[in-house]
Amino acid sequence: MTTSRTVLVTGGNRGIGHAIAREFLAQGHRVAVTARSGEGPEGALTVRADVTDSESVDRAFSEVEAALGPVEVVVANAGITRDMLLMRMSDDDFASVVDTNLTGAFRIVKRASKGMLKARFGRIVLISSVVGLYGSAGQVNYASSKAGLVGMARSLTRELGARSITANVVAPGFIETDMTDELPEAQQAEYKKNIPLGRFASPDEVARVVAWLAGDDAGYISGAVIPVDGGLGMGH
Ligand SMILES: NC(=O)c1ccc[n+]([C@@H]2O[C@H](COP(=O)([O-])OP(=O)(O)OC[C@H]3O[C@@H](n4cnc5c(N)ncnc54)[C@H](OP(=O)(O)O)[C@@H]3O)[C@@H](O)[C@H]2O)c1
Repeated sequence: MTTSRTVLVTGGNRGIGHAIAREFLAQGHRVAVTARSGEGPEGALTVRADVTDSESVDRAFSEVEAALGPVEVVVANAGITRDMLLMRMSDDDFASVVDTNLTGAFRIVKRASKGMLKARFGRIVLISSVVGLYGSAGQVNYASSKAGLVGMARSLTRELGARSITANVVAPGFIETDMTDELPEAQQAEYKKNIPLGRFASPDEVARVVAWLAGDDAGYISGAVIPVDGGLGMGH
């Protein structure tokens, strides 16, 4: 049994974030999720936040701290895609994806670090993607944002490591959620052909890795990129 912690997961109303929150609850932690709409799983505290807005992030943290105590584990999971070929991609298509996926994680981590520095303890997990290091046609905006999270985790490790704060990246491959349901069937079939394990993953398979990284057994892992991709990325 790992030490019970106060955990905050962004985008915990559906998909991978919902599964992550469920897994932390199952392991006996105090769990809060941020959501723009809907609710986290039963047993989690749901707070409203938009990760593109620093004030709303600050308010959400204050609410969680008041109800559950200082946030010891933060999972920056909220993310969006706006896939299209480079020639069609507008500045806004690029900037809005980076603002949510990369700057959004920065806002979350910066606010979380206040309490973590004081406590001299913290676990930061950033949800990236296999395409951050592998690349993907039609996802110049998304892949750039997800690659940026690797530099962020490694810099956080160097800056905050001496205070027992770890920062790691989880890089999922193809996970069955609303995000991937939107992809055309032909593209899904093409992906499956390239995945050595020959199947997509469930959100729970990502959630268990995130919970492990935040737990006592992973206390000496920091600045790492952990793939959960059925072999698709092969170390990229
Ligand atoms: N599914 C995959 O195959 C896959 C693969 C690799 C990486 N990932 C990454 O895993 C994470 C979760 O993906 P998913 O598949 O679970 O996606 P999803 O089902 O589309 O859910 C995305 C979540 O992010 C939230 N979100 C989006 N923009 C936000 C904002 N500005 N402020 C606050 N919350 C916001 C959404 O909230 P609303 O419900 O309010 O929109 C939702 O909770 C993402 O970072 C994604 O890039 C997914």
